Amino acid sequence: MNLLAELRCRFHRALEGLCEDPSEYTAMVRPAQDGKFGDYQANCAMPLGKATGQNPRDVAAALVEALEVDELCEPPEVAGPGFINLRIRDDWLASETSRMLSDPRLGHHAVESSRHVVIDYSSPNVAKPMHVGHLRSTVIGDALARVFRFQGHRVTADNHVGDWGTQFGMIIQGYRNFLDPEAYAADPVMELSRLYRLVNRIAGYHDRRAALPGQRDKLAERREELAILETAIAEGDKSKKSEAKKVRAEVAGLSETVAGSETEVAAVEADGSLAGIAAQHPDIADASRAETAKLHSGDPENRALWEEFLPVCLEMMESIYQRLGIQFDLTLGESHYQPMLADVVESLSQQGLASNSEGAMCVFIQGNDAPFIVQKSDGAFTYATTDLATIRYRAADLEADTMLYVVDARQGEHFRLLFETARLWGYADTEFAHVSFGTVLGEDRRPFQTRSGDTVGLESLLDEAVDRARRIVDENDDGKPEGPELDEETRAAVAETVGLGGIKYADLHHNRESDYQFSWDKMLATTGDTATYMQYACARILGIFRRGGVDREGLRSESSTIILDDPAERDLAMALNRFADAVDMTAAERRPNVLTGYLFETANVFSTFYNCCSVLKEEDASRRASRLALCDLSARIFEQGLGLLGIETCEQM
Ligand code: ARG
Repeated sequence: MNLLAELRCRFHRALEGLCEDPSEYTAMVRPAQDGKFGDYQANCAMPLGKATGQNPRDVAAALVEALEVDELCEPPEVAGPGFINLRIRDDWLASETSRMLSDPRLGHHAVESSRHVVIDYSSPNVAKPMHVGHLRSTVIGDALARVFRFQGHRVTADNHVGDWGTQFGMIIQGYRNFLDPEAYAADPVMELSRLYRLVNRIAGYHDRRAALPGQRDKLAERREELAILETAIAEGDKSKKSEAKKVRAEVAGLSETVAGSETEVAAVEADGSLAGIAAQHPDIADASRAETAKLHSGDPENRALWEEFLPVCLEMMESIYQRLGIQFDLTLGESHYQPMLADVVESLSQQGLASNSEGAMCVFIQGNDAPFIVQKSDGAFTYATTDLATIRYRAADLEADTMLYVVDARQGEHFRLLFETARLWGYADTEFAHVSFGTVLGEDRRPFQTRSGDTVGLESLLDEAVDRARRIVDENDDGKPEGPELDEETRAAVAETVGLGGIKYADLHHNRESDYQFSWDKMLATTGDTATYMQYACARILGIFRRGGVDREGLRSESSTIILDDPAERDLAMALNRFADAVDMTAAERRPNVLTGYLFETANVFSTFYNCCSVLKEEDASRRASRLALCDLSARIFEQGLGLLGIETCEQM
C-alpha cells in the first residue's frame, strides 16, 4: 500500500468538516523525522488553527477525533503545540508485509489516472564532444522514465539530439579541406570528431587572437582602477571597499581570460602544422557559418554530406547508450522539426504573440526584459523556434499530457520563456517542467572534463570505472575466508555492473540541482551511500539463501506469517513498507535522490537487522521463516529500487 498517500487520504476526509480546502493541509502529513515520535507526523493543526483563529491543540484534538485510522495506526497522539504523531500498528505492518511477499509490485499501487509523459533527456549535440553534462541528463532522465513507467504512466523517452546546428558547417568545412581519407575509412566518427575539433580550434585561435589586444587594454584599465581604489582604502576610505571587491573580481576574471587566450594562441603558433592551417584559413569561422547556411537553405551537396555524417554520429552515441543499458522510444532530432518552423512563427504572429523588433521576430513575455527570439533578422530560426515546434508536435501528434526536460540549469531562462510562450500559444493544459541539474565538478572544483574532452573521453571514463571496480571485486573475492568464489568471467561481469552502477548512482544520489564533485573513491566505496554498498547488501542476502538452500518462492505464499517482535524486525518491516511512498515521492519531486535516500536508509536498517537477528541459525522455525521472508523482501526492494535507477545487481560478488 502507498502508505503516505493512504494516510493523506484519511486526513483529507477528516479535514473536510474542519476547513474549506483540505488539500493544502494534507501535504503536511509526512514521514516522521525521528522514530521516537512514531512513523508519520501531521503538522497541519498549527496553520489550520491560525487560519480559523482556534487553539491548534484543540484543532488537533478535533482532527484526531474525526480521523478514521483505527485498523492502520495506534491511537494518534497530540504533542507539543499540536503535532499529531502516528504509529503504524504492528499487526497491520505484519500482515501488510506478508501481503507484499506475493506482490510483484512490492506494495506499490499503480496510479489511477495514467498520463502520457514525454521525457526529453540526454539530447546531445551530435558530432560535437558529448560531455559529462549529457551523461548526467541521460542518467537522471532514464531513472525518471523508469519510475514514471513503474507508477503506471505511459512514458515516451525522446532523445532530442542537436543534429542541425553549426557544428555541421564546421565538419563540412573540415571535410573539404583537411580530410584524412584513410582515417575516415577506418573510423569515420573518430575522423569527423577530429575535423570538428580542428576547425573549432582554428576558429577559436583567430577569435582569441583578435580579442586579445582589447582584453589586455581592458585588464590594464581595471588594474589601474583597482590601484586607485586600494590607495583610497589604505588612506582610510572604507566606503570604497565593496567597489574594490567588485573590480578585484573583474581583474581576476580578465587575467584568467587573457592568460587562457595567450596560452592557447601560443600553443597553436608553436605547432607547425596548426600554425600553417591557421595562416592559410584566417576566415575559417565565416566559411563554416556559410556552410551551415547552405545546409539550412537546402544546398544538395551539403545536404548529402549531412546525410552521410549523421548516421555515423548517431551510431557512436548508440554504443554508449547500449553500454549503459539505456533505450529511447524516439530519437527525433532538431532536424525533424525544420520543415515546421516557418509555420510556428506564422502562427505566433497571427495570434499576436510574436512581433517584429528590429527585423527579428520576438515574443515579449511580461516581466521579462529579454525577448524570446523565434526568427533572427537574417531569417534564421532559433533553438527556441525548434523547441516550440517540438511542443506542438508532442501535444498534437504524441498526445502528451506532461513534458519534462532534463537539461542543465544554465538553460533555466530558456525553459521559463518557452513554457510561458507555450502557455499563451494554447498549451495551458499541458504540464511542463524543466528538470534542471547542476554541473559535475572535477577534483579541482572546476567543471569536470574527460581527458580528451569528447565522446571517446566519455567511453574511457566508463572503462576507467569498470577497471577500478575490477580491482575492488578482485580484492574482495581474494580476501574471502573460504577462498575466492568467482571465476574470471563472473568477475568481469560483476566489475561492469559495479563500475557502471557506481557512475550512475554517484550522479543520482546528489540533489540534482546542486553541483557535485566527481570522486572515484567515494563513488566505488563499499560502505556508505553508494551503489556498491547496496549491490553488496543484495548479494549478501542471495548468499544467505544459497548457503541455507532456501526455496525463495516457497517463502512467498499468502499464508506466510511475519513476526515483528524485535525492534530491528519492526524497523525493517516499516522501511520495506515505505517503498511505495519512496517511488511516488521520487516521481512527484522528479528527484532520483529521494529513491537513493530511501534505499540507503533501508540498507542501513537491513544491516542492523542482520546484526541483531539470527536468520539461518535461528532455531524457532516460524521466526526463521519470517526472517527469511524479510530477507527476501529486502533483496527484492534493492533489486527493484536500483532497477528503477537503471542500476543492476549481481547474484554473487
Ligand atoms: N542539445 C542541447 C544541448 O546540448 C540540449 C537539448 C535539450 N532539449 C531541448 N528540447 N531543448 O545543450
